[in-house]
Amino acid sequence: MARTQVAIIGAGPSGLLLSQLLHLNGIDSVVLERQSREYVAGRIRAGVLEHGTVELLLEARLGERMLRERLVHDGVALGFSGRSLRIDLHALTGRSVSVYGQTEVTKDLIDARIAAGAKLVYEASDVAIEGFDTSHPKVRYRHEGRTHELDCDFIAGCDGYHGVCRQTVPPGAMRNFERIYPFGWLGILADVPPVSHELIYSNHARGFALCSMRSPTRSRYYVQCGLDEKVEAWPDERFWDELKLRLPEEVAASMVTGPSIEKSIAPLRSFVVEPLRFGQLFLVGDAAHIVPPTGAKGLNLAAADVRVLYRGLVDFYRTGSARALERYSEICLRRIWKAVRFSWWFTSIMHKFSDDPFAHRLQLAELDYLSGSTAALTSLAENYVGLPFEAAS
Ligand code: FAD
Ligand code: DHB
Repeated sequence: MARTQVAIIGAGPSGLLLSQLLHLNGIDSVVLERQSREYVAGRIRAGVLEHGTVELLLEARLGERMLRERLVHDGVALGFSGRSLRIDLHALTGRSVSVYGQTEVTKDLIDARIAAGAKLVYEASDVAIEGFDTSHPKVRYRHEGRTHELDCDFIAGCDGYHGVCRQTVPPGAMRNFERIYPFGWLGILADVPPVSHELIYSNHARGFALCSMRSPTRSRYYVQCGLDEKVEAWPDERFWDELKLRLPEEVAASMVTGPSIEKSIAPLRSFVVEPLRFGQLFLVGDAAHIVPPTGAKGLNLAAADVRVLYRGLVDFYRTGSARALERYSEICLRRIWKAVRFSWWFTSIMHKFSDDPFAHRLQLAELDYLSGSTAALTSLAENYVGLPFEAAS
């Protein structure tokens, strides 16, 4: 039977980053992924990296291309009441964020892992985890028509919201917290120059819109849409028209449009499971928590979990002490709940929840208050660029 120190389920950013950081510290892992490599590498998701995430990627020796190609943003804009409010993130916090897509992060991770000869198993089906409440956990899976067994010391559940790890935990051992929002985001990717060199989050009576980008020649735009809407009902022309209607006029006037190269709808939800550790099983990233995308926190939170877990594992294998691992849940959950709160709040002030004009006036009052208060702006900026990490011991 095969053996590894850490069995990692899922080759999204969490699983790949964890295996890379463990490898650099002499800890062996095997990564099992349900999908193909092409599928995982092609998924269009997050775009904004916090300063701390960039530092962790550098710690994982992945930084070269990222440092060359990322776009450093010192500010972000909020659109409302026909105007645009620029928030100077750098002046308010001393920090910036980086625009570097999740597809690029994933590509860098896959390249680094493969170059290091990693055990990365794509298209692993029927993954099942066993005995994580004992000191001899085991993972079973099928690959290329054969059943495999893998003995390990620890299992890292990096398998996303729909993964098998959280689903294997007895329901009585955990508590779920969830909020589903009554709308989704329709996103497109297009090879046109971004309408602004910084992101614009726009509150509008017709619904929320976001102008983002992947490079100086590739834009990523979103509009709030109904939960039951279908991508087919949104030909490019309809998307561009709706987007422009939801932006301040001078922004809409300079929008360059073109054919979309990707178009998808994502529902919005907040979800947290407590605790994050069950014996030798650790839940990491989207397997443990989901935030609505408004605060750009999903990928960054996943990286923050990985940071705590890999350091705990390194400590365990170097010194025999499990103290840091024992604090994994507590340390991660404190950050997670703050990100859940920020993402919920930012979602609440930027989206259309109903036709109630009173609710819209309250949002505009909050945005107007923001624009006149350095304290309120600093609070937003601190959360947006990423809160400081807590020490593990
Ligand atoms: P994932 O990226 O979900 O990776 C989990 C991996 O596990 C997947 O590759 C999956 O195939 C694999 N897996 C699942 N089940 C099994 C199994 N049984 N066996 C083996 N492997 C399995 N965040 C932002 O900050 N901004 C955004 O704009 C944004 N947009 C998003 C759009 C969508 C549609 C989604 C789903 C998420 C979005 N996110 C966004 C969130 C962000 O992409 C995630 O937080 C991030 O991908 C988390 O990484 P992860 O590795 O924890 O999980
Ligand atoms: C992007 C996505 C987000 O959710 C966000 O808040 C900012 C940017 C993006 O895909 O570029």
